[in-house]
Amino acid sequence: MSIETLIAGLSRILFAVQAEGEWMPVAASTGAPAVDRLFHFILWLSVFFFVLIVGLMVLFVVRYRRRASRTAPEASPAHNTALELTWTIIPLILVIVIFAWGFKVFMDMSTPPGNAYEVLVTGQKWKWLFTYPNGHVDENLHVPVDTPVRLVMTSEDVIHSFYVPAFRMKKDVVPGRYSKAWFRATRVGEFQVYCAEYCGTSHSDMLSMVVVHEPGGFEQWLERAADFLNKLPPAEAGAKLVAQRGCAQCHSVDGRGGIGPTLKGAFGRQVQLVSGAQVIADEDYIRESILAPQAKVVAGYQPVMPTYKGRLKDAEITAIIEYLKVLSQ
Ligand code: CUA
Repeated sequence: MSIETLIAGLSRILFAVQAEGEWMPVAASTGAPAVDRLFHFILWLSVFFFVLIVGLMVLFVVRYRRRASRTAPEASPAHNTALELTWTIIPLILVIVIFAWGFKVFMDMSTPPGNAYEVLVTGQKWKWLFTYPNGHVDENLHVPVDTPVRLVMTSEDVIHSFYVPAFRMKKDVVPGRYSKAWFRATRVGEFQVYCAEYCGTSHSDMLSMVVVHEPGGFEQWLERAADFLNKLPPAEAGAKLVAQRGCAQCHSVDGRGGIGPTLKGAFGRQVQLVSGAQVIADEDYIRESILAPQAKVVAGYQPVMPTYKGRLKDAEITAIIEYLKVLSQ
């Protein structure tokens, strides 16, 4: 090992100097470097005091250990005002610095600029949905680069937590209230979104991407994404909706079992309900099951589906029904 690699390795350990992504996730927003600086300050401060305190402890244990020649404790001062003031005032200053610094970073992360672009975020079991100002709903968060984006987030059911490591952003998403967050992406690319609050069976599948577009690319994407309902045949649009809106999270399209019944062969079938009644899964039954999922639950399944009332337009429901027909051919 050359002396250069040794120094590089040591400085990496001691000063957190490292290639990007090696230790921390990539930093892709304006807020991320500020969080990283504070994190490293607290980390290395803790390392310093850990070494100091444990080092002194070991030294004293060895220095004042019991020996044959030492039968009684040595005389020592009971009190040292200067020393006691020092070990009180220095830590006090340090915790005040950590508080003030942390408060500044927190406030910066909590206060979006006035001109921020707004996207609505919905958490539901088990999918993130993103609603854009023109009404388009997507399964991924698309944003323009170098533009402040404000997220207004709520949940359909239980507590979820919106977490983007590359932006150092994590915020609980709670039913019945709105949580807000904002960021300004600094690099083009795709970054993982997680759910960071255990929310049930498919919690770890609650994955989306943040797609950061080049200047101009976002507007183009949004325009194209928003009118697929008009451009595609209904069944194809329906297939897209089933994948995008979280249906496929619980209902397979290939006959496999899941949290809800499979959509393959579902249309036109005779269905046994929890109530004991039987219905034919026609257009009206599918529509009712989307808008009022608890009304006629299929036997053998839990009533856990959230309602899509107000969240799917009539034309979208029609497209989904057309897709189910294709799946049942
Ligand atoms: Cu949603 Cu975990």
